[in-house]
Amino acid sequence: MAKWTVADIPDQHGRLAVVTGANSGLGFQAALALARAGAHVILAARDASRGEAALGRLRASASGADVELMALDLADLSSVRDFAGAFDERHDHLDLLVNNAGVMALPYRRTADGFEMQLGTNHLGHFALTGLLLPRLLAGSAPRVVTVSSGAHRLGKIRFDDLQGERRYRKWLAYGQSKLANLLFTFELQRRAEAAGTPLRSVAAHPGYAATNLQVAGPRMENSRVGERLNELANRVLAQPDSQGALPPLYAATVPELPGGSYVGPDGPFEARGHPQRVEASGAAKDQATARRLWEVSEELTGVRYDFAPTGALA
Ligand SMILES: NC(=O)c1ccc[n+]([C@@H]2O[C@H](COP(=O)([O-])OP(=O)(O)OC[C@H]3O[C@@H](n4cnc5c(N)ncnc54)[C@H](OP(=O)(O)O)[C@@H]3O)[C@@H](O)[C@H]2O)c1
Repeated sequence: MAKWTVADIPDQHGRLAVVTGANSGLGFQAALALARAGAHVILAARDASRGEAALGRLRASASGADVELMALDLADLSSVRDFAGAFDERHDHLDLLVNNAGVMALPYRRTADGFEMQLGTNHLGHFALTGLLLPRLLAGSAPRVVTVSSGAHRLGKIRFDDLQGERRYRKWLAYGQSKLANLLFTFELQRRAEAAGTPLRSVAAHPGYAATNLQVAGPRMENSRVGERLNELANRVLAQPDSQGALPPLYAATVPELPGGSYVGPDGPFEARGHPQRVEASGAAKDQATARRLWEVSEELTGVRYDFAPTGALA
């Protein structure tokens, strides 16, 4: 069977999409491919100048692209609320939300709201964003939420007794926790959307190993030139290009018959590279009791409660 590529993306004209972390790596490639397929794409970026630069690169690569830039810092709930408010003023619906932005293996840092940075950015920020945009998604056509996880979710455990790593912090375990949270969230959102009788589909994807800024951001924050160089070298020698890594999220975002609750990753050895196919999540990611508890804790921490009534106002 032929391998799935960007050429297989169905026509996206008439679809409105938001991609978080769209100024770099997989987010940029996903935004570019969606725009080339005709979608109106909102690039959500935390830094205005990096966002503007990405908008310029995207327009240069896809003439006539229907794209706009909006500010979003997932490590600050007031910014997430501002984004949702601004979106609400400009658009009455949303068809596709790609929860892609992320940070990996950082030294201990806190978000503006005091959350551990990886859980705060990768999970809690996206949890709040999705909940605040839910009324617009429920007004969308065949609405879909794609959340980008990682093979590293298998390292993770949700440490309810020390969620923010205040007693013990291990940067890789914290990354694993945040990526496990992405999957627990994806599957719980699907169950809740379905139970409420809505057409919303929640799916997840992981890119395998793709050369992006993700691997160098942590060493840079630690001022580790050696770590930075080693990761740059590994990216050049071992990783697949970011455009290839973006295929699983793009497949998850656009394949019409993909069922809600699917998880998509590369088809190559160790799911490290290749073309998209449905893959298995760990047993921990499918644990419904943990997913329910994480949902309740996430509502508590962010103050965002999900309203599945299609006419609900922004929370
Ligand atoms: N690359 C891989 O091999 C790999 C493997 C598994 C999973 N993933 C996942 O893929 C996703 C995309 O990562 P990538 O590889 O494309 O890395 P990347 O090139 O570093 O892109 C990450 C994006 O997230 C943004 N971001 C970080 N913190 C943010 C915040 N507080 N608010 C808003 N945006 C924020 C970054 O913005 P700035 O440019 O301003 O920093 C950037 O646009 C992540 O969720 C990551 O966990 C990647």
